[in-house]
Amino acid sequence: MDKIAVVGGAGRVGESAALYLMQQNLCREVAVIDIAEGPAKGAALDIAESAPVFGSDTRVWGSSDYADLKDSDLIIVTAGLPRKPGMSRSDLLDKNIAIMDQIADAAAEHAPNAMMIVVANPVDVMTYRAWQRTGWPRNRVFGQAGVLDSSRMAWFLAEATGRSMADIDAMVLGGHGDQMVPMMRYTTVNGIPVENFLDQAKIDEIIERTRKGGAEVLGLRENSSAYLAPGASTVEMVESVVNDRGRVLPCVAILDGEYGHSNCAMGVPSILNRNGLDKIVELDLNERERGEFETSLAAVEEDLARLK
Ligand code: LAC
Repeated sequence: MDKIAVVGGAGRVGESAALYLMQQNLCREVAVIDIAEGPAKGAALDIAESAPVFGSDTRVWGSSDYADLKDSDLIIVTAGLPRKPGMSRSDLLDKNIAIMDQIADAAAEHAPNAMMIVVANPVDVMTYRAWQRTGWPRNRVFGQAGVLDSSRMAWFLAEATGRSMADIDAMVLGGHGDQMVPMMRYTTVNGIPVENFLDQAKIDEIIERTRKGGAEVLGLRENSSAYLAPGASTVEMVESVVNDRGRVLPCVAILDGEYGHSNCAMGVPSILNRNGLDKIVELDLNERERGEFETSLAAVEEDLARLK
């Protein structure tokens, strides 16, 4: 891939995404774009100056001009106001939608053939808005949430079981909110159900901690939401696209009949390859999972109703 733009790149999530892109040498250039010009250029310069340490040829530069989205192959949107302690992700909705509209319009004008990965919160709604506003096909507009939520759960499981991170497979679906849907049936230690390693009380504790994972980091950091794991999770998705890996990762996708729903966005397992979000994988949900999925979607739909 030639050019990836990170919009909101001077914010912490954007900056960490830009850093991981450079470290992994995933593209020729990364444009760090932010309304704050100095911080965009400063963040980019700081990252660029660490490229020699990693032997990376990815050129990182900063700008406050949306016209610099020109010819981007992929646009990562992290711009938006972050949560403050006590705020829900939905509290951010109106302000961040206005920001998203500007970015979507600029993307459609300057990089009409790009893909977009939305990271800004509330991410399910923001992804829907980006899709609606750009008018791009849904394979080119999708969001990051489930990789982060799954990664959090994987860490909690590794910590609790003492088993290798290499063997932990965790899957979290649904909206990126307290109603997210940890799929324990598909969460294993090298294919072995987690029940073989942990009792139900511990599993329930991990499910709850996963659902509140973002708030836990925010509460501890006091002045910032999580940004390292969100940045890394975003770049994991980018890697599957750039290298045409076809990985199956939980992504915020626009549903068009899958899981019995249409014209909405939520986290579902998705195949990521050179086409972007190439295909949604439909799982046979059992009754409890179906109930949780519908509850999670209802929470997202409440916010989506403000856009429809
Ligand atoms: C989190 C926020 C960024 O989950 O949504 O950390």
